[in-house]
Amino acid sequence: MSDLVQLTKDNDIAIITINNPPVNAVSPGVPEGIAAAIEQIAKDDSVKAAVLIGGGKTFVAGADIKEFGKITSGKSGGGLELPSLLLKIEDSRKPIVMAIHGTAFGGGLELAMSGHYRVAAPSAQVGQPEVKLGLIPGAAGTQRLPRLAGAAKGVEMCAEGNPVKAADALKFGIVDRLVDGDLLAGSVSFAREIAKAPAHKTRERTDKLGTAEQNLPVFTTARENARKKQRGMMAPLAAIDAVEAATRLPFDEGCKLERKLFTDCLFSDQSKALIHVFFGEREVAKIPDIPKETPIIPVNTAAVVGAGTMGGGIAMVLANAGIPVLLKEADQAALDRGLANIHKNYATSVKRGRFTQQFVDERLKLIQPTLSYEAFANADLVIEAVFEGMTLKREVFAELDRVCKSGAILASNTSTLNIDEIAASTARPQSVIGTHFFSPANVMRLLEIVRGKVTSKEVIATAMQLSKKIGKIGVLVGNCRGFVGNRMFHPYVRESVFLVEEGASVEAVDSALYDFGMAMGPLAVGDLAGLDVGWRIRKEYRHLEKPGIRQAFAGDNLCEMGRYGQKTGAGWYKYDESRRAISDPEVANLVRKWSAEAGVPQRQVSPEEIVDRCVYALVNEGARILEEGFALRAVDIDIIYLNGYGFPAHRGGPMWYADTVGLKKVYDRIEEFHQAHGELWEPAPLLKRLAAEGKKFADFNKEQTAAA
Ligand code: NAI
Repeated sequence: MSDLVQLTKDNDIAIITINNPPVNAVSPGVPEGIAAAIEQIAKDDSVKAAVLIGGGKTFVAGADIKEFGKITSGKSGGGLELPSLLLKIEDSRKPIVMAIHGTAFGGGLELAMSGHYRVAAPSAQVGQPEVKLGLIPGAAGTQRLPRLAGAAKGVEMCAEGNPVKAADALKFGIVDRLVDGDLLAGSVSFAREIAKAPAHKTRERTDKLGTAEQNLPVFTTARENARKKQRGMMAPLAAIDAVEAATRLPFDEGCKLERKLFTDCLFSDQSKALIHVFFGEREVAKIPDIPKETPIIPVNTAAVVGAGTMGGGIAMVLANAGIPVLLKEADQAALDRGLANIHKNYATSVKRGRFTQQFVDERLKLIQPTLSYEAFANADLVIEAVFEGMTLKREVFAELDRVCKSGAILASNTSTLNIDEIAASTARPQSVIGTHFFSPANVMRLLEIVRGKVTSKEVIATAMQLSKKIGKIGVLVGNCRGFVGNRMFHPYVRESVFLVEEGASVEAVDSALYDFGMAMGPLAVGDLAGLDVGWRIRKEYRHLEKPGIRQAFAGDNLCEMGRYGQKTGAGWYKYDESRRAISDPEVANLVRKWSAEAGVPQRQVSPEEIVDRCVYALVNEGARILEEGFALRAVDIDIIYLNGYGFPAHRGGPMWYADTVGLKKVYDRIEEFHQAHGELWEPAPLLKRLAAEGKKFADFNKEQTAAA
């Protein structure tokens, strides 16, 4: 037996325990260990039945995700494959009871379903989350699950990937009994109860599979949902095909089809991208010059300055994490407005079932409105979210410096301003940091944490840790104009407007990028956020633009006409009362007229060019940011774009996407745009070098780590 699996006995019941901490993943050695235990049990006449259980906190929480990468890169070591092990378990003449606590996800649930019975702790969860990594179950999960739970539940679990709680697992027949109290003792006595009855094989069951007529609407709806909710992803559709095969084909043939679909998904760019994202979300927490032991500043109380769109949302986020928060406004009317918005947002959450009324009441008690800085001396953390303007921000920070205790963290939610300049208005710039939330702050997962020149390591480490506590994904960035996300977004939006000025329709630009997988097209995003925001910023920074460089005009001209987007009922689109976008032929006419006046030649623009122009604008700027050191790694940029800007996860983020296309190809296309459209398209030096050397953005980080 391997070290990872132990076999013991409780009189006539054998106990197989998997001990592969932390989550008992099915890594090499585990299947071999279980197989050896099953062989011994078969030979031991004193054993009547067996229990298989996970040691530690959980049953088998899933496959070892690192193994997938080894298979696709040809480095997998072989060994006993899970599907063969599961047949062996199912063929055991002595019944095997799977005892589930913690989670049985992915390979864990597949393992559990090969047993003759399943019992679970009431707190346990089961699921087939493979689609979230662009995969489908690969060890007959799509074949055994509908046999236990029926086609409808089986297809939902395999195609959507969400976990199911023990009570529901019991209701759907995935488990046979819930065990209160000691799971092992309960499982052993259950095993004794069923020891004499014949052991049923899951794969031989057909009673829940339904008829073709019953199943037709089930699979039709599942496909419709997948196309809508998991747009552009192949794994959910593959999972549906595989579960449908379970209802039509004998088990062995269904397994063959599942295997083929699993392999197609595993070798696809989509699953490689999603696995990159999975590891990337963990990677961004690591900051090379800030060791894990860095002291954390306790954040027990907080304060927010400004109760507008962002400040209100940030106060909710802190309160939701149980942190009492003072919310300061400039005057009573603004404070009342801010509080009314907070109440409205919470009411929506209750209506949607996200929070209970009791939870909301408790949170609201944690938010204390105020018009003065009086109680700020107690706050461990202050987040400023007043209007975007350097003079005002500096005034607020000078005041915070006066009232806050020493050691308190002073954070700004600015989206464009220089953190060092803000910090310089205090006598403690080491305590100042940027915490750039995204709108709506209580919903969006991204938090860009902006490091100033002298921000202390403790303050950075605390902000990173706090991001986790408040349910955000914190990414550390450097202090440059627009930081990482907005700095890249600027050329992306600029190209989308250029394309319209060159003759593409507003709808064509948005739908090409929507079809690429973006949550929304860039022009619709502009209308949602307010076109005036960018217009004001452009006006403020116009003096910094190089003379003679091409400037987009259509968006600014719309603003001059008072068309700010959704809030004024018109922008790139028109909006009805329910804020639904309607194409506006007037915009097309206006842009044609303005372009003629500016002498911009009109032409046909293909969807492919729209995507390349906009997405490669992100990539080229991302390459500069990376080389200049404002992002720590290419993956940090990817995580920012996936969580803050609606970039499709199955493309892995802009930098990963460029690596997938091949940097030589990306560089050549950018050089083509450079020739056609001039200096705004000058290729980033890093991109040029990596492309020439046949490397990827991911290699740049390896070069840097090697150099450090
Ligand atoms: P907003 O205009 O909705 O709210 C600003 C609030 O600050 C107003 O309610 C105003 O009364 C209040 N205020 C002004 N001076 C004050 C003072 N001395 N003391 C207390 N309150 C004061 O603005 P919004 O959109 O919430 O933006 C706030 C900050 O967040 C800005 O720096 C902005 O750039 C940034 N940001 C905005 C995002 C957005 O999508 N709206 C996204 C990310 C960052």
